Amino acid sequence: MIKRVGVFDSGVGGLSVVKSLLEHKLFSEIVYFGDTARVPYGIKDSNTIIRYSLEALEFFKNFDVDMVITACNSVSAYAIEELKEASSIPICGVIEPGVKALELHTPNKNASILILGTNATVRSQKYERLLKNEGFFNIKSIATSLFVPLVEEEIFEGEILEAAMRHYFKDIKNPDFIILGCTHFPLLQNAISSYFPNSKLIHSGEAIVEYLENKYKIKKRYDNCDLKLFASENPDHLKKIAKVWL
Ligand code: DGL
Repeated sequence: MIKRVGVFDSGVGGLSVVKSLLEHKLFSEIVYFGDTARVPYGIKDSNTIIRYSLEALEFFKNFDVDMVITACNSVSAYAIEELKEASSIPICGVIEPGVKALELHTPNKNASILILGTNATVRSQKYERLLKNEGFFNIKSIATSLFVPLVEEEIFEGEILEAAMRHYFKDIKNPDFIILGCTHFPLLQNAISSYFPNSKLIHSGEAIVEYLENKYKIKKRYDNCDLKLFASENPDHLKKIAKVWL
């Protein structure tokens, strides 16, 4: 039975996934590791992302977790196969759940889909590949890398964010769906929704909850969850952010 889970992210952003896991009370224990000393991953090449991810997996071997979730889209884009090979417990990324969530939301294969992610996630084309396998074809991706430091600076609205959105979205016409393909972007969902009021947003945290319930039959609702927070640098900052976001 999967009760205890490790959640891995390049930094603090994966707390957006932890928030959904906590809201749905899926686990009795969550061990979170943010590689804050080496964030951002989204500008790194695939070999570096794979190496960092395998090192993070070693960290979780110190804990008795039943599964590791990589909340980071950049890791999910490049390192899932390597992590699975190196692990004796299930590894779950966020890209496949995001694609499954979109399928659950629409039978319409003509739906226009906008994927927002880091450079690494967009360069990998993993979302596109999986979406095309499911018959979707009207797909556009944009690396909205500036959104990451804005969230880190706790800028969730206002002029700078609006200028960044105008810059990135100038050629985009009202997509039916927007995949928030980065841990940080759910924190901008209000701003993105105001920019594209008719688009439905797909959020990794909610997508993974649906996925875990369907694929791993994880339904148990734990009233209490022991959340342990670790970071490779400045864990106090992670704990402070967790207090605000969770
Ligand atoms: N966690 C990363 C992701 O979801 C965003 C931050 C980074 O670039 O490391 O892709």
